[in-house]
Amino acid sequence: MAKRAKRTWLLYVIGIVALVLIGGAIAARQLIAGQVIWISWAIRTCALLGYLCVFVASGSALYLRELVRLFGRPFVKTHHVVTVAGLVLLGLHGLMVSINLSFSVLIPNVDSWLLFFTWGGPVAFYLIGIASLVALLRTSSLRKQWRYLHWLNYLAFFLATIHAILLGSEFRSTAMKVIPALLALALVAAFVLKRLQRAKLRAKRR
Ligand code: HEM
Ligand code: HEM
Repeated sequence: MAKRAKRTWLLYVIGIVALVLIGGAIAARQLIAGQVIWISWAIRTCALLGYLCVFVASGSALYLRELVRLFGRPFVKTHHVVTVAGLVLLGLHGLMVSINLSFSVLIPNVDSWLLFFTWGGPVAFYLIGIASLVALLRTSSLRKQWRYLHWLNYLAFFLATIHAILLGSEFRSTAMKVIPALLALALVAAFVLKRLQRAKLRAKRR
């Protein structure tokens, strides 16, 4: 069988374009408001890029075959590039916020529901961490159950969406709040479609 060309570079190009567009837009907004404050620029750029990585990694599970064809390598390897980038960016986002404010923000805030959801970012990060860890262990003791735990990624994305809408400086206008809400709805659709896809596959195998 002919070897497929690896096109991982395409992922890096997409990453650089996203960094230039999102980082540039945040810097431009800060410049218009007065000056660029680099720490908040970095916190917001990492947050938005990391959030998009989680969205892309989750939605991409619907397109296993297409991704193998496009990138010329197994789905999991492509998934890894996006998920590792997401984990690093979100880790940096949380770390910079903690240094800037206090490390106590990493403890879930249970003073009220509103505060819990506003500060749901750290909880989302822990859920993504658990979901990634179980995926790494999927060939060992976890066997089939790993996938159910991997669904925590969807839950994490919803928590992160509410967190971004309630706390994000870039999401103050109603128009901007609509975008993450639409992304969250798209993931609900992706979850349902993924279940239909798998049911069809099972029926074919029988
Ligand atoms: C930011 C971290 C990650 C996110 C957001 C993420 C998200 C997702 C989502 C939502 C699915 C679809 C699950 C379903 O509906 O059944 C999926 C599938 C999958 N993920 Fe991840 N994932 C992450 C990290 C990882 C890691 C670290 C690994 C591997 C070590 C991994 C391996 C897989 C595999 C093998 C599939 C199954 C594809 C299939 O056969 O259906 N994921 N991922
Ligand atoms: C790890 C612990 C986390 C902490 C301490 C944290 C804290 C914060 C803070 C303080 C902001 C407001 C920043 C600003 O607008 O200047 C913020 C915004 C944001 N966070 Fe988090 N967060 C964490 C994790 C996450 C995770 C896991 C995600 C995504 C999966 C996420 C996504 C976002 C997004 C998209 C914004 C909006 C950025 C903006 O509009 O400026 N955060 N976070």
